[in-house]
Amino acid sequence: MILSSFPNRRGRRLRQNSHIRALIRETSLSKSDLICPIFVREGENIIEKIPSMPGVYRYSIDTLITYVEKLISCGILTIALFPLTPSDKKSSSCEEAWNPENLVNIATRQLKQNFPELIIMLDVALDPYNSDGHDGLLVEGKIINDETLVALEKQALVQAQAGADILGPSDMMDGRIKAIRLALEKKGFNDTLIMSYAAKFASAFYGPFRDAVGAKGLLKGDKKTYQIDPSNKEESLREVGEDILEGADMVMVKPGMPYLDIISEVKQKFNFPTFAYQVSGEYSMLRGAIENNWLEKDKTIIESLTCFKRAGCDGILTYFAPEAAKILDENSK
Ligand code: PBG
Repeated sequence: MILSSFPNRRGRRLRQNSHIRALIRETSLSKSDLICPIFVREGENIIEKIPSMPGVYRYSIDTLITYVEKLISCGILTIALFPLTPSDKKSSSCEEAWNPENLVNIATRQLKQNFPELIIMLDVALDPYNSDGHDGLLVEGKIINDETLVALEKQALVQAQAGADILGPSDMMDGRIKAIRLALEKKGFNDTLIMSYAAKFASAFYGPFRDAVGAKGLLKGDKKTYQIDPSNKEESLREVGEDILEGADMVMVKPGMPYLDIISEVKQKFNFPTFAYQVSGEYSMLRGAIENNWLEKDKTIIESLTCFKRAGCDGILTYFAPEAAKILDENSK
C-alpha cells in the first residue's frame, strides 16, 4: 500500500463533489445483483401478510404471476420460491418434497410458461414438507444424513424437471452437492445450476422465515447438528471448499450482515461466484426500524446491500429487492 500524508494527501479532495465521488467509487450495486425470495401458498386470489415480516406477503399462484410480472418490469429477473405447505401435506417422511405437482413445482411451471426469461431458484431441503420441522429426515431423535441425501436427490430432480434454473441446497447435509450434481448429470440436466448454501450458520435470524413457511411450531430441537456454529470461520471455509469440489456453481453465505467477514474471506480464498442471503431476521430488523422512522428507508436499504458488494459478493438474496430496484432507478435519474 502506498501511503502519503497531509497535505500531499487530503482525503477530502476525492470527496468534494458527487461526480468525483462517483469517479473513484469502488463498488456498485445494480438490479442485476438482486435475487428476490418469494413465499407461495395454496388458494386463489390471496395476498397474505406475514406479521413478522411487514411488507412481505405470501402469494397464491395467480397473484404470484401478477406480482412477478411487476418485478420483471422493474428489473428483478431472478426469484427464489419458498412454499407454505398445508400441514396435512407434511409428514416425517417428507414425500411432498418430491411430488412433481407440489406447490413450488406447479408455480415454477406456470411462471416459466408466462415468463420464459425469468430465472427461478428453488430451495432443496426438506423443512417445508417435514412434520418435524427439520431440513433432514429425523429418526429416533436424530437427523439421518445419508438417507436424507436420497430424498434430496429426488426433490432436486422434480424441481429441475419443473424448470428451475438454479437449485439451492440449503439443508447442510454432508455430501449433498455431490449427490444432487450426480443425479442431475445422470438425468441429463447438465445446465441446471447449483447455488450451494455452503456456509449456512445456525442463526437466530431465520425466525421470521420459519413463521412465513409455517415451520416454527413444528421444529423439534434445533438445527445445530447440521448448520454451522456462528463462532466458526475455519469450519465455514472448509464447507465452502467442499461444496465447490462437489459441484456447486455458486456458493452462498447465510445470514449476510453478521457474517461479512466470512463473505470477504470466501471471495478472496476461492475466487468463485459468491452470494449472500440477507435473511428474514435482517430484513425484519431493518424494516422495524424504518417503520418507526428510526432509520431512513432508501439510504438504509442501499447501504445494507452495498456492504455485500464491498465484501466481495456477486449477488444478494434480499426481501428488499423490489424496493431496492425502485431506489436504484430513482438514484440513477
Ligand atoms: C430452510 C431455509 C431457511 C432459510 C432458507 N431456507 C431457514 C432455516 O434454515 O431454518 C432462511 C431464510 C431467511 O431467514 O430468510 N432450509
